[in-house]
Amino acid sequence: MPFASVKDMRREARRRLPRAVFDFFAGGADDEVTLRDNARAFQRWALLPRILRPCPSRHLGVSLWKNDAPLAMPIVAAPTAFHRLAHPEGELGTARALAQADALFIVSMASTVALEDIAAAAHGAAKSGHARLWFQLYVQPDRAFTARLIRRAEAAGFEALVITVDSPVFGRRDRDWRNGFFDLPAGLSCETLREPQGDGQLGPPRPIAFSAAFSWSIVDEVRKMTSLPIVLKGILHPADALLALEHEVSAIYISNHGGRQLDGAPATLDVLPAIARVVAGRLPILVDGGVRRGTDVLKALALGANAVGVGRSLLWGLATEGPDGVARVLAMLRDELDRALAMCGCSSLDEVSPALVGPRREPLK
Ligand code: FNR
Repeated sequence: MPFASVKDMRREARRRLPRAVFDFFAGGADDEVTLRDNARAFQRWALLPRILRPCPSRHLGVSLWKNDAPLAMPIVAAPTAFHRLAHPEGELGTARALAQADALFIVSMASTVALEDIAAAAHGAAKSGHARLWFQLYVQPDRAFTARLIRRAEAAGFEALVITVDSPVFGRRDRDWRNGFFDLPAGLSCETLREPQGDGQLGPPRPIAFSAAFSWSIVDEVRKMTSLPIVLKGILHPADALLALEHEVSAIYISNHGGRQLDGAPATLDVLPAIARVVAGRLPILVDGGVRRGTDVLKALALGANAVGVGRSLLWGLATEGPDGVARVLAMLRDELDRALAMCGCSSLDEVSPALVGPRREPLK
């Protein structure tokens, strides 16, 4: 059966993947209230199309920073762990598909392929020879290790660091608990976390440590380690967006980790307008959570995001058809966004504004 939408890809991924793996990708923390709300929040907004505005072609490119090469589209791959659980090629397949589409890949620190190998695959597949890559980092209590990871990401051509700050402790996911899914199966591991030993061989992967002892000073510490732009991922409160500005980050990334950390946190789309208001254009804003359609992307852009991250939707593509599936999901979302822009009378993202959305009167069931 042909795939008409991300929903179809998800259905097929569910059929193909072992139950525990599907649940690991699909699941959220506790009662999954936040997980469900992320997607539902998009239905609480309606698009308000304008008519008879010429837009024979739509320009989807977006620049996040002055003097930075524009992204081909405002849809980016959110960092997700363990791609080899979805497909044997893992992050190599994801990287190639994204690079061929000239789309930004935010590579998780918990990848099942080493960051250098991912970067080589991505740069090799990019038409320009240079893929767009950012590296997601959980700052480690061992700062020397953290600094070495950053050096490696810089050397491999990653263009920004995304520090995930919504995980002082690890969220508890009931599905994983029930399935007894706590570790990668034999043969898979977090390859980036291996380091050379005294004998020159790579050692075993170091475990990722989470720390509830961190404060805003980690942002300042990381800044001293690198000249790469720093993006803070996991902001939900306008007051934290202002603190991020004070700490001179380069972008704000609104996220509740796809509902996998604090259950009961708000849907990201619901906090976006208030954060956009306080940020007032001083920094680019990324947001992720629950994006399943190009119209979702358009709503987030209208409410103040500059780019939108997609996590699970791409994993469903990878699980279903490998790299071709990733390419398919990306193309679906891109085409849906393009069609929605045309129907709303916008020829570029500059024309997308809050006037394009209004609250829906009745939340849809
Ligand atoms: C994630 N996410 C995540 N975030 C992060 O900063 N580092 C990580 O390693 C991971 N790993 C991860 C694994 C899986 C299976 C999922 C589903 C998510 C969170 C991710 O970046 C993003 O915030 C959400 O996935 C966005 O929600 P959607 O698009 O999946 O609804």
